[in-house]
Amino acid sequence: MSQDRLKIEVAKAALAQVEAGTVLGVGTGSTVNAFIDQLTASGIQLAGAVSSSEATTKRLQEAGIEVLDLNHTGDLALYIDGADEVDPNRRLIKGGGGALTREKIVAAASRRFICIVDESKCVKVLGEFPLPVEVLPMARALVARRLVALGGTPELRDGFTTDQGNVILDVRGLDLVDPVKMETAINQIPGVVTCGLFAQRGADEVLVATEGGIERR
Ligand code: 5RP
Repeated sequence: MSQDRLKIEVAKAALAQVEAGTVLGVGTGSTVNAFIDQLTASGIQLAGAVSSSEATTKRLQEAGIEVLDLNHTGDLALYIDGADEVDPNRRLIKGGGGALTREKIVAAASRRFICIVDESKCVKVLGEFPLPVEVLPMARALVARRLVALGGTPELRDGFTTDQGNVILDVRGLDLVDPVKMETAINQIPGVVTCGLFAQRGADEVLVATEGGIERR
């Protein structure tokens, strides 16, 4: 099965968790795009959605789904998003698409976070995928030095600006055996908006599309 097909299958599985008339948190990326397509095709009428990026907002609006301000919705019952890596404890690396900060905010505001991935994203220990860190532009060099001190090799994501007008440092080589500790350490560096470790607030459930069907973790 192609990776695109696996994304469609996991998107369909997530759709079964969506209740009509509710406000849904929606992540960012190609797997989420497949989910938005399935949601649109299903005809399920939401009360609206809270979006995690400008790209997702555009896609939701094109599908006729009203995008609501998180400041007005209160907590959400459900957030659906993809990931770049998932470990056996449902801790994640996210931000390959650069939307990590708003994704982390919507995840924090949601009572249930269902992560949808294909099996290529599942790892034993996080860290093969370079860890994205969103940084205020004036702090780029300072944060890079601090990340080196933590054992990483940061690289500026060339030509990329986040929805908040910041830059991304993609960091290789960090020891992520204790991802909660590393998430805390990185997020304390002045100038860091947030890092792409979703360990303190991981996913509540992971739906994994495999050749053999959907696995629930
Ligand atoms: C965007 C993200 C995405 O969820 C992550 O990059 C996975 O994307 P895709 O579904 O395209 O593989 O964190 O910031």
